[in-house]
Amino acid sequence: MSPLANLFRSSIGRKILMAVSGLVLTGFAFGHLVGNFQIFGHPDQINGYAHFLQSLGPALWAVRLVLLGAVGLHVWAAVALSLESRAARGPEKYGVHRWLSAAWASRTMRLSGLVVLAFVIYHILHFTVGVTDPTNFKGALSDWVMTEDAREFGIPLAAKGTVVHDVYSMIFIGFTCPWIAGFYILATGLLALHLLHGIDSLFQTLGLRSAKWSGGLRKAATLLTLGYFLGNLAIPGSILTGVVKPAPGTTAAERTGCACAMCPAETKP
Ligand code: HEM
Repeated sequence: MSPLANLFRSSIGRKILMAVSGLVLTGFAFGHLVGNFQIFGHPDQINGYAHFLQSLGPALWAVRLVLLGAVGLHVWAAVALSLESRAARGPEKYGVHRWLSAAWASRTMRLSGLVVLAFVIYHILHFTVGVTDPTNFKGALSDWVMTEDAREFGIPLAAKGTVVHDVYSMIFIGFTCPWIAGFYILATGLLALHLLHGIDSLFQTLGLRSAKWSGGLRKAATLLTLGYFLGNLAIPGSILTGVVKPAPGTTAAERTGCACAMCPAETKP
């Protein structure tokens, strides 16, 4: 069997595929969070950054394909490994043991993985395609004219005067809706839990989870994933509670409250 076929057919090969695709997705998740923190700056910042990403054209599509491939591989390996371990275990006699053992971690992994997958599909429809949020339909949102040049690490992101999509208002308007903000908080909480168990399995696959290291590794993973969750919580949380207000002159600043069908009339803009 060729080494590539072995990777797909053997149990350890599937675990390696799962770990590598998981690492790619984790890298994206942390990078995306750092980029999203620009929401706390001037609108030029995140709007210029989003405009720069959109202007990458084929390079952006290459990254999207890598991410899509990583998601596909990760889900495929998870299903294959889960079927394999079920077959190896045979009929379950001691139900209580299943809940108290590693099966609990894998059950929460399946549940959190499914919710995160559903969230990512919703999130792309919400922010990238712009079709799910009635307060955010593309027509309801004005474009943003850059007031200053935006640069990051010396890279020109967008020039003063360029008309760009107002991602800043899109995020603020989206997160004034408690249902939307709540779903983001729930999904990123489950994603953090998923990452915590994922890091554990990664070290197990690499054979690095020795008795000497396991306590320290667990603490480091807990800190990292907690930091990730708190970072994600800060964005919808601070907007929903009004701790951070939209900048004057943006579409978001001209609106108050949420216009979705589920929120009461008194909160409508
Ligand atoms: C507070 C939380 C988040 C905010 C404010 C946020 C913001 C955004 C925005 C504004 C876009 C669209 C960019 C554009 O089209 O110009 C986007 C795209 C995306 N986000 Fe998020 N995001 C958040 C959390 C997440 C999480 C937790 C994930 C998954 C781990 C995620 C995955 C994605 C993906 C896959 C895209 C599509 C990228 C593309 O255009 O190909 N986001 N996000």
